[in-house]
Order: sequence, then C-alpha cells, then structure tokens
Amino acid sequence: MDLLSRFDFFNPEVMRNPYPYFAQMREKAPLFYDAKLQAPLVSRYEDVSYILKNPALFSSAQIRIAGKLPTERSQEAGLGAVDNLLTMDPPVHTRLRGRVNRAFTPKQINALEPRVRELSRECITEMTASNEFEFMSGLASPLPVTIIAEMLGVDTSRRRDFKRWSDAVVNSSNASFTGKTPEEAVRSAKEMLAYMTEVAEARRREPRDDLISLLVQDSEGQEALTPEEVNSFAVLLLLAGNETTTNLLGNALTTLIRHPEAYEWLRRDPTPATCAAVIEETLRYDSPVLTLSRRTTQEVELSGGKVPAETTLMVLVSSANHDPRKFSDPERFDPRRDTTGLLSFGHGIHFCIGAPLARLEAPVALQELVARTPRLGFSPRQPENIDYGSSFFLRGPRSLWLQKN
Ligand code: HEM
Repeated sequence: MDLLSRFDFFNPEVMRNPYPYFAQMREKAPLFYDAKLQAPLVSRYEDVSYILKNPALFSSAQIRIAGKLPTERSQEAGLGAVDNLLTMDPPVHTRLRGRVNRAFTPKQINALEPRVRELSRECITEMTASNEFEFMSGLASPLPVTIIAEMLGVDTSRRRDFKRWSDAVVNSSNASFTGKTPEEAVRSAKEMLAYMTEVAEARRREPRDDLISLLVQDSEGQEALTPEEVNSFAVLLLLAGNETTTNLLGNALTTLIRHPEAYEWLRRDPTPATCAAVIEETLRYDSPVLTLSRRTTQEVELSGGKVPAETTLMVLVSSANHDPRKFSDPERFDPRRDTTGLLSFGHGIHFCIGAPLARLEAPVALQELVARTPRLGFSPRQPENIDYGSSFFLRGPRSLWLQKN
C-alpha cells in the first residue's frame, strides 16, 4: 500500500509515470478512494468496460468531481453553464449526438486527408528549419486546432484569435481544478462566446458548407441548436478534440524516441498501416485521456465491492488499457500487437465522435515527420524529466524539444 499512499493526480512527479500506481490499484485496491477528487478510482478493465457499456446504471449527467458539478466549474472558468454531449444522458444525448454525428462520418473525415497532409507538411517544414525544435507548439498543437477551426467555419481572419481562445479554454478548464481561473482566460472565453454567437446568427441567415451551418439549420425534423448550444459544442470540440490529439502526438513521439527499435521499424517502412499501428499502440500504452467520470444511479457491484447510488466514479481508461487480464505484457510498447478493445476513445454511447479524425490526423502527421527526420532524438534542451502537467483528465508533454541529428 506504500506506493498508493503517495498517489496524487496533482503531483507532477506522479504524473510523469502513473502506471506503477495504477498496477497496484488493479491488484490491491480496484476501488481506490481519491480524497482530492472525492471519488473512487476504478482501475480494472472488466469494471471500466462494464461501466461504459451501461449508461443507465452509470450516468454522465450531474457528476460532482471534488464536490462540484461540471457546469459550475465551467461557469467559474467563464465558459458558460450549458451542458454538452459529455455531460448528458439519453434521450437528450441521443438527440444532440444524432444532430452532430452527420459532420463526423468516415466519408466526411476521409475527405479531409489532403488538407491534413498539406497542413502537416507546412508545420513540419517551418518547425524543422532548425536542427532543434519544440514539437508541441510546432506541430502537435497547431494541427488539430487549425483543422477544427476550418471544420467549424471560423473565418481565416479570426484563426489567430481562435487559437488564443482555444489555449485559454483548455488552460481555464485545467485551472478550474487546480486554482483560480486567470482573468485573461475568462476574457478569452467571453470573446469566443461573442464570436460564436455572431457566426451562428450569420450562418442561420446564410448557411455555408461548414459545421456551424449544419448545427444552426433545422433539418429532417430536427430542431436547430441555439447559439449557446453551438458555442458549448465548439468549446467541447476544443476541449475534447484538441488537447487530446495534441497529447496523442506528444506521447507517440516521446514513446518512439524511448523505443529506438520501434522508431527504426517505423522509419524503414513508414506506410499508412505502420503509422496507424504506432498510433493505436500509443493510444493503449500512453493514453491521452487518463480518466472519465460517471455517477451511479443505483447501488452497483464492482470488483472492489458494493458502491452506493449517487457515487461519482473516476473511470481509469488508461489503467484498463494496461490490465494484464486483457493485454498480455501490458507495460511493453509493441506496435505489432493486437490493440482491439483499447478504451482510450471510451466505449458505448459516448464513444469519441472525433476518433476517425484523430485516427486520420495523428498517423498522417507521423508519416510526414518520419519521412523528413530519420534520426530524430531528444534535444539537449529537453529536460530528462518531461513535464506532464498535473491533470487527472488528460496526460501529455507540456513541451518537447527534439533534434533532427
Ligand atoms: C468523447 C477521447 C479526439 C470529440 C470522447 C471520449 C473519449 C475521447 C474517451 C468519451 C468520453 C466519455 O465517455 O465520457 C479522445 C481522444 C482523442 C479524441 C483520446 C484523440 C486522440 C477527439 C476529436 C474530436 C473529439 C478530434 C472532435 C473534433 C469528442 C466529442 C465527444 C468525445 C464531441 C463526446 C461524445 C459523446 O459524449 O457522445 N473522446 N477524443 N474527440 N470526443 Fe474525443
């Protein structure tokens, strides 16, 4: 129990490698109570997948983390208090999800491939102009945020603002758990709300071929979203679709450099299939999302015993991906393994709507990078201890200094 007594999501030391802690939880305390989050942590694959498959027993709505509702938290962060897909249950969730699903079909996402490749090349050319470069700000962060901005239909002249708002939204959402939200973040959130409201109204009058137009038009008997709902969905896309993909790319690069044989395997044969395999194994081995949360609607039985109704559970998808009962030799990074069943995109009715987009962006970016940097390594500017921040929700390097030679 010694290791577990030191477990703390908000301790950067622990966050550098939480997996030994998760292994102990799975063995010794599959319902380990986290005093700071005021919730038990569920760590075994069997329990995690059971929870995600049963939304009637495990609700996504009205969840209190560290005593607060998500809407209270986002209100404090200046992000408005409207629920989004992640915080809804059926039938409200079913209606909204049906509405936005149409923008994320495999056909629509695959059509973005040439643009994702072009943008990746642009970022990589600029980033690798010098031998040493910072990967997160050079490629991992601008790629997903630019693609989301383009999908939504944000005007080109406002793209820089959008990136600033996006960074502020992500930071204020993190800060709402760890301290006071900076005023600058609240101001950015307000600016973004004002802009989204303006665009939603403009697209309602004059639709274009973009995601916001799709959301604000009545269609097939479905009601249009209100400007507040559109803004809340845009914020959700930024939070759910931005830092996650950024982390995935950061985690992939870190892991590849730490596993030279895997990098060599990829470098020799950087096909779409090998790039995709590296990304899938990164999702399992080093998940960008650590935890999800659910609220029990009645008393339930999990591996660690009975859980009363109205309990918030922190559901460790990252730990489930390392459960040896599901994945053999789980602490080994092996892009050739079968990763079927990984839970990094969730499971069931809330399964990540953006998974096809992330599965497009990350392998394409990796392929383009490897083609230009056959001898990639950490630069001397990169401290040995990578800073992973301290969020119980998302995990990835804050910055990553690399060099070409
Ligand atoms: C939901 C992970 C990228 C949009 C989720 C969930 C997970 C997840 C675990 C389920 C949450 C739950 O069950 O409570 C990831 C990871 C990503 C990624 C690891 C990248 C590596 C994206 C992208 C977008 C996106 C690129 C959109 C552009 C969403 C949305 C939901 C969601 C809208 C809510 C779905 C619902 O509640 O029905 N994501 N995501 N995600 N994701 Fe992603």
